[in-house]
Amino acid sequence: MRLPQDDTFNSPDTTNLLDRGSQGVIAKPLDRPEGPLKVSGSATYSAEWKSDHCAEGVLVLASIAQGTVKTIHKDAVLSMPGVLAVLADEAMTRRSTQGTAGEAPVQGVQTVEYFAQPIALVVAENFEQARDAALTLEVEYAPSDTPVAFDPESADAEVELAPDTEPVEGGDLDQAMRDAAFAIDVEYETPGHASAAMEPHATIAQWKGDDLVLHGSYQMLSYNVKEIADCLSMAPENVRIIAPYVGGGFGSKLGITHEAVAAAIASKQLARPVRVVMTRQQVFETVMRRSETRQRIRLAADETGKLIGLGHEALVSNLPDEEFAEPVTQATEFLYSGENRLLKVDVARISRMTAGSVRAPGEAVGMQVLEAAMDELAQATGIDPVELRKHNIADKVPVEGTPYSSRMLAEALDQGAKAFGWDQRRPKPCQTREGDWWIGMGMASAARVNMLVEAEARVTLKADGTALVETDQTDIGTGSYAILGQIAGEMLGLPIDRVKVLLGDTSLPAGAGSGGSFGAISTGSAVLRACEMIREKLAKALGCTEDALELKDGLASGGGKSRAYPDLLAGKDLAETGSIKPGDTADDFSQASYGAFFAEVAVNAFTGETRVRRMTGAFGFGRVLNAKTARSQCLGGMVWGIGSALTEELAFDLRDGHLVNHDLAEYHVPVHADVPAIEVILLEERDAAASPLQAKGVGELGICGAAGSIANAVYNACGARVRSFPLTLDKII
Ligand code: MOS
Repeated sequence: MRLPQDDTFNSPDTTNLLDRGSQGVIAKPLDRPEGPLKVSGSATYSAEWKSDHCAEGVLVLASIAQGTVKTIHKDAVLSMPGVLAVLADEAMTRRSTQGTAGEAPVQGVQTVEYFAQPIALVVAENFEQARDAALTLEVEYAPSDTPVAFDPESADAEVELAPDTEPVEGGDLDQAMRDAAFAIDVEYETPGHASAAMEPHATIAQWKGDDLVLHGSYQMLSYNVKEIADCLSMAPENVRIIAPYVGGGFGSKLGITHEAVAAAIASKQLARPVRVVMTRQQVFETVMRRSETRQRIRLAADETGKLIGLGHEALVSNLPDEEFAEPVTQATEFLYSGENRLLKVDVARISRMTAGSVRAPGEAVGMQVLEAAMDELAQATGIDPVELRKHNIADKVPVEGTPYSSRMLAEALDQGAKAFGWDQRRPKPCQTREGDWWIGMGMASAARVNMLVEAEARVTLKADGTALVETDQTDIGTGSYAILGQIAGEMLGLPIDRVKVLLGDTSLPAGAGSGGSFGAISTGSAVLRACEMIREKLAKALGCTEDALELKDGLASGGGKSRAYPDLLAGKDLAETGSIKPGDTADDFSQASYGAFFAEVAVNAFTGETRVRRMTGAFGFGRVLNAKTARSQCLGGMVWGIGSALTEELAFDLRDGHLVNHDLAEYHVPVHADVPAIEVILLEERDAAASPLQAKGVGELGICGAAGSIANAVYNACGARVRSFPLTLDKII
């Protein structure tokens, strides 16, 4: 790992208070404070909370794809040992409400929209009894007699423009393709993906009068409270969610899922706590999928390789009425030049579980395909792939004309190439052989939009000279505890062991939640602002100007005076709530995080088996808040890139729409043996337009294009241009 030297984080051209802080904790590669709890098994995850007299619920999933539930033969299982109730309430069987407004719950209406949609909950004294009854439960259906589309390519699937989107159109792409010295017109496919978070979806629900308390595994708690309240027709003020530790989400926990509503309804009815934990198979079958995509890329380049035209048209899928459509062309809008363009996403309405946000929705699959097509252009023009990208960095966003804020794409390409040893690459395929293996190198650009969202955080400088940070921000394994503590420590002049961070409880101020790479910068900016207010008051109490105020190790100095916090605070806590919302910074820029990937692969000449031998990623995402957690995010993204390139693929049975590979034994995420040495380079950058922290999102950047670099390396190794991900050996051979 390469980390920038400490002093490079404090370049003189920035004016942020974080740069004037003298504590020196910001950007440091500090350990996550909750790490020891997690690795020792003592961090309490949602299903692990002790709850007296807790009943256990098991979801029952539909075994048809479309139709209605006629009869649920409850009586036969109600007499089984320990069984307390069989609930079939429409409110809990509706699909994830992400992005859709709920309706009032209606008893007894059971419409099945996809195979494995939850239709009932069996509750018993213990888990084994509930599971036994759920397996025994007999359900009669009236299957729909209209044809059901399971395949986005089938004639039965209705296709429409992605909701709330407009195609990006400029100039005349067809003409540009005819005028081009080099024209690429190719179609690629990517399969559906599962989020595959380690912790399954789980909720314990408990009522106190009209108040509902949930221990649940979600990413965006204050939003999730509104969803629960909406489903149960109750006031959000009466719902509290507690989730101090979340074992990964990757988009699957952005919205609430069925087990939460089911647990809440059952708990109310039985007047006791109810726990519902989804099995791994249930998570795969019913929570959320990334849509498969078909993508047509058109690249029209002049004789120098400069793009004069760019087309990116995608077909994705979702259930009817769902608003979400994988935003495949999101980064294509701003990444490269080419004024003649057509970018467009269509959605096919099919009967599979809800498609939603999974690991960098849009860029993850859009960039991997765009960057594979760019490799085809490099091959056609004979221009080095790195040079081709640099040659096509636009001055302003094509068509829209929007200026960019910070953008270190060229630097990432150069520094990544240097560190990787790109100059050792032989441009033509099939040039390097080691025994049975062809060796090749490939690269790709990385890009992911930057988003700042509404967030609040309370910071208290306590009378004893310690600080407390409080927000309902979640930490889904990404480093929220560490980063928020570092921001407060730097701003308030406190060593990190004197800053306590409380997260994941909606009784605390509403943070941004974890999603879209916006958590750290949004909630972090709220913490920064709360600290600014505290600094103002400290300056006043000390009798100096804010500019003169210096805070270090719990000592406030300025104007020739110096006092320790307990003395200065005179026995009183000093609490401030900071907030941030979109528009608080300059949002008239195209804001994104950028980077570059370099991969070396070995492809077996006889079997087509591909092994990634090493990878390098270089990334620029504004201020680094914690060099260790940022690196880990980039590294994790690149590991997902290996999965996306080589193994991950949801397989649906097109006869009835059921998911065939519904667990981690059959859906293959990369394991240790698949992951080689990965080098991560963090570039020094500041972006005052992106957030008061001058930081941009990094959470998802590491996957956005990574798989493209691997596919391009496979081509360079053995000459196989596979346009269907994942690049399994049958496609390569
Ligand atoms: Mo993310 S896929 O917005 O959790």
